[in-house]
Amino acid sequence: MSEHGRTRDESPWLATTDGPRFSAPDGDRAVDVAVVGAGIAGLSTAARLAEDGSSVAVIERDRVGAAVTGHTTAKVTSQHGLKYDRLLDTVGEKRARQYAEANQDAVEEIARRSEGFDAEFERRDAYVYAEDSDSRGQVRDEAEAAERLGLPAEFVGSEDVDLPYETAGAVRFTEQGQFHPRKYVLGLADFVEAKGGAVFEETRATALRIDEPCEVETTDGTLTADHVVCATHFPVFDRGSYFARMQTKRSHVIGIRVTSEPPEGMYYNTGDPYRSIRVHELDGEPLVLVGGENHETGRGGSTDERYDRLETFARAYFDVEEIEYRWSTQDYKPFDGVPYIGRLGPVGENAYVATGFGGWGMTGGVAAGEIITGLIRDGQHPHQDVFSPARVNGESAKTFVPHNAAVGAHFAADWARSLLADREATLRPGEGTVVKTDDGPVGVSRSESGELNAVSAICPHMKCVLRWNDGETSWDCPCHGSRFTPEGRVLDGPAIEDLPRRNAREK
Ligand code: FES
Repeated sequence: MSEHGRTRDESPWLATTDGPRFSAPDGDRAVDVAVVGAGIAGLSTAARLAEDGSSVAVIERDRVGAAVTGHTTAKVTSQHGLKYDRLLDTVGEKRARQYAEANQDAVEEIARRSEGFDAEFERRDAYVYAEDSDSRGQVRDEAEAAERLGLPAEFVGSEDVDLPYETAGAVRFTEQGQFHPRKYVLGLADFVEAKGGAVFEETRATALRIDEPCEVETTDGTLTADHVVCATHFPVFDRGSYFARMQTKRSHVIGIRVTSEPPEGMYYNTGDPYRSIRVHELDGEPLVLVGGENHETGRGGSTDERYDRLETFARAYFDVEEIEYRWSTQDYKPFDGVPYIGRLGPVGENAYVATGFGGWGMTGGVAAGEIITGLIRDGQHPHQDVFSPARVNGESAKTFVPHNAAVGAHFAADWARSLLADREATLRPGEGTVVKTDDGPVGVSRSESGELNAVSAICPHMKCVLRWNDGETSWDCPCHGSRFTPEGRVLDGPAIEDLPRRNAREK
């Protein structure tokens, strides 16, 4: 429980499932394919390969589905905001169609597989709505673009949008879905083992050698494999400078119990601030998930205030009985808005990556499994071109330069600003600050039980100065989004090393 009454600082998906369920490896082993990362992308890949007869081993540094898959709002839809009108402009019809088909096929694959798992899959319509007449045109254009690409899309008026406030119409995708994401990936993990594969939890990949065969060194032995798939959300082996090709975004969700009738569909708006709404039946009662307040990691100000704004929005439109859950998640977004799925880097033909889902990883992860399976098995896949990590296009270049210039500015400004006053003795529980020491900037925070933690405040990735995240009690990097616990353990990449501990001084 948190300080907010009965609100739990975790996602309902993790709160209602258990683990770990799988052991660490007991030494070296050789397989056809080694998969690093047991979220929806890694396990979808492993499941597809295992059912094709390949021997697979999946390693996960934490627990199956406990990272980003366990923190999503779990919409299963090919509707990814206002996506398709833009794609037609930027990548052309052939590639836009690849994106659409890959994601719509993923909806159907999740529906099919869920019949064998207890994953609480339900069909729902998905809506992106216009808040006012100014944005209605964008929504109409999106409906036309999506329909042209073969998706089940149509424009509907406000009367067909079941929300407790007025809209100016929406693009509706019919027969999409929603599910319990962690139950789904635990079902996939069991499926992989039933097909002869192996799943290992609490096992960290420490090195990769791309060769024939490849070798993945782990904390519990070496995996030798003909092919390696890096599906760790941010690629733990960054062989393609992915850190400079994606923006890192955090978004926040509250799970509320209501006494009013909740809406049926899954909703997303066109404007700012962004809001996402959907309902999940949990413990026999509807839980309304209200999400939004997105911002670049390490640059968003107070996370507590963002949760408060979501609560204010929810209370304005629903009869809120209780805020039962609140949690946050991290997404990596390529500048052209399309994930990177394919060969990991310019060197080596037999290492693959799936990253950059931009918040749409439920279908994107499943699509990655399908495409990478095709690349391994046949050397190609009909949907591969639009997702190719080697692509170069004008959209990426347009954002790459200003974004990386902004990162440089943060780097310079924060080093200059980091020599702050010594004020660790005044920190209250849950607070953190960066202080000046002879060892350079040190991040000092106080736990809820009153203990001080001190770690280096320099990000091991590329030396930016970290910032305190009050709502999640973590150290977040404003440059490329790495995150660390108060004790310095890596939560999110691109950093792979923990922060060194420092001495905390009580005055
Ligand atoms: Fe790159 Fe921190 S994540 S410097």
